Parts: sequence; C-alpha cells; structure tokens
Amino acid sequence: MPTPRRPGRGGQAPPDAAGAAAWHELGKLDAFAGRLTRVECEGRTLLVYRADGACTVYDNHCPHQRTPIPLEALEGGALRCPKHGWTFDIATGECTAKGDRPLKRYPSRIDSGLLYAEW
Ligand code: FES
Repeated sequence: MPTPRRPGRGGQAPPDAAGAAAWHELGKLDAFAGRLTRVECEGRTLLVYRADGACTVYDNHCPHQRTPIPLEALEGGALRCPKHGWTFDIATGECTAKGDRPLKRYPSRIDSGLLYAEW
C-alpha cells in the first residue's frame, strides 16, 4: 500500500501523473455514528460500517449485478442484497450465502477526526 498522502483543501489529494490511488475525505467521524451509514463522495456511493471505534468502507453496490444495497438490508451482522439474496458479513465484506464474491472494500483511515478512503 502506498504511503498515504494528506488530502489538500477540498478533501481530495490530486491524482499523481501515474494515476495512483489517492485518499478522499468522506467526512467528520461524528457523521458515521450509526452502525451503517451511506455516503456519497465524488461520484461513488459508499457504505461505512462502524464498530468498536473503527470504520470499514465498502462500495454500496452488490458485486453480483451492481445493485445498490440499502441500509435496511443489514440484519445483525449480515448484509443481504435484496435482488438475489447474496449475503455478506458486514465486518469483513466476505460473501457468506448464495454468492461467491466479497463486497468491494476500500482502504480507510482516520486522521484528525476525519474519515478517508483510498481509491
Ligand atoms: S444483484 Fe445482489 S444478489 Fe444479485
């Protein structure tokens, strides 16, 4: 994993000439007080799962057919896509029923009370 670059003003580090991944500011940590929160950032829809003070960031789309997964799909520790029932462990993103691919997970970090994800 490349060394994190601190985002500039506006929340996004400029992409480098090689098109390497950059850190994107998702918002203040306080905004993710719920167990599962949806956030839009630069054209992406993400799910932020928060547990034990840590955050895990996933793409909001099911890896099967890219269906957006609603927050209400979370039951206990399982996130179940409403379209065909692929089910994911929300703590790890691993597919636990019906399907065979995990949720897309983004590297994330917390810095000065702000949550960042890398893509
Ligand atoms: S699109 Fe999610 S299970 Fe098929």
